[in-house]
Amino acid sequence: MLRVCVIGLGPIGNLHSRIYSEDDLCELVGVCDIIEERARAAGERFGVPWFLSAQDMLDKLKPDVVSVATGGFEYASDHYEPTIQSLRAGCHVLCEKPIHNEIDKAEEMVRVAREENRCFGVNFNHRFTNAARLAKQWVDEGRLGHILFCNMSLWIGKPGLFDSPYFHIKALNPHSADLMRYYCGDIASIQCFATRAPGRNIWSTASFNVQFQSGAVGHLTSSYDLARGHPMERCEVAGTKGRFVLEDMWREVTLYPADDLVKSVYTNPVFGGFRDFDDTFRDRLHKFLQQVSGGVPPSEIDGSGEDGLIAQKVIQAGIESLESGRVVTVCY
Ligand SMILES: NC(=O)c1ccc[n+]([C@@H]2O[C@H](COP(=O)([O-])OP(=O)(O)OC[C@H]3O[C@@H](n4cnc5c(N)ncnc54)[C@H](O)[C@@H]3O)[C@@H](O)[C@H]2O)c1
Repeated sequence: MLRVCVIGLGPIGNLHSRIYSEDDLCELVGVCDIIEERARAAGERFGVPWFLSAQDMLDKLKPDVVSVATGGFEYASDHYEPTIQSLRAGCHVLCEKPIHNEIDKAEEMVRVAREENRCFGVNFNHRFTNAARLAKQWVDEGRLGHILFCNMSLWIGKPGLFDSPYFHIKALNPHSADLMRYYCGDIASIQCFATRAPGRNIWSTASFNVQFQSGAVGHLTSSYDLARGHPMERCEVAGTKGRFVLEDMWREVTLYPADDLVKSVYTNPVFGGFRDFDDTFRDRLHKFLQQVSGGVPPSEIDGSGEDGLIAQKVIQAGIESLESGRVVTVCY
């Protein structure tokens, strides 16, 4: 049984902690936050020791697996230190997205994981669903044929003032950049326009055109300006033999074969299906635990640190395009 600790106890770290405490593959053994109130509340809630220092917790508890659910500037700057500390302490690490808001720090996180030969995953929970996996299976089986285009959209209502004009672009789009690459391969170049909704201090809605290395084309719309409660994500991929539309991560995926008017639809089942967004976390965390306990080599981790780094490089190229007004080649 894997011994797991969670670092960072905002809403997301509490969700990780709850999921680990319910998963048969692991035991939640400790939690940590630099804010005492948060650390104590989570420790009491889950009945585990709580700490104010990640290093202290790692030294005392020696966990096998650590979730890093810190936030920080652009919702990511605080991921670096506890990830490096945990990897150096010999732990496998699952880090929240974005892997980091700075490319050189993200590169170092990936490098240290490789050096320590530890599994390093990023929480790309949006693709850890039965519907998203079925769509991937259709692509891999060649049921779409030669991939032609991808239309991806992700939006969520997130009002308020933010610490950086790029907060929304950097914090929301790792999921989309990763999903587009999951289905269509690496993105070669990107062009971005963005707008600020009334009262916003950030680029709160953005539109990206991409060209994949395969030659396929794609588009991504992302926004923090739409009401919650409605659908929030749609991914459409089309090829010479068919097209799929994946709606809201787990709700439904439909395959439209090019030569057949009968479509295939997978709908999330009422019994045994995903109940809500939290179940995407449950699936993702469980998969990481399965891969770690199954001895999967670090290079084969699904939704890896390297995938997280690549997603951030795509986003960085998008930001450079927004600033320069040019099409930007993604620098791998
Ligand atoms: N995967 C998803 O769908 C999804 C959804 C929302 C948020 N997130 C990500 O989850 C992360 C956390 O989000 P949140 O809303 O819970 O953030 P938050 O800011 O509410 O909580 C982060 C906590 O980390 C603590 N912290 C910072 N540095 C620390 C350190 N070195 N040691 C211990 N504790 C430390 C802070 O004190 C804070 O309590 C963010 O990176 C965010 O981007 C992911």
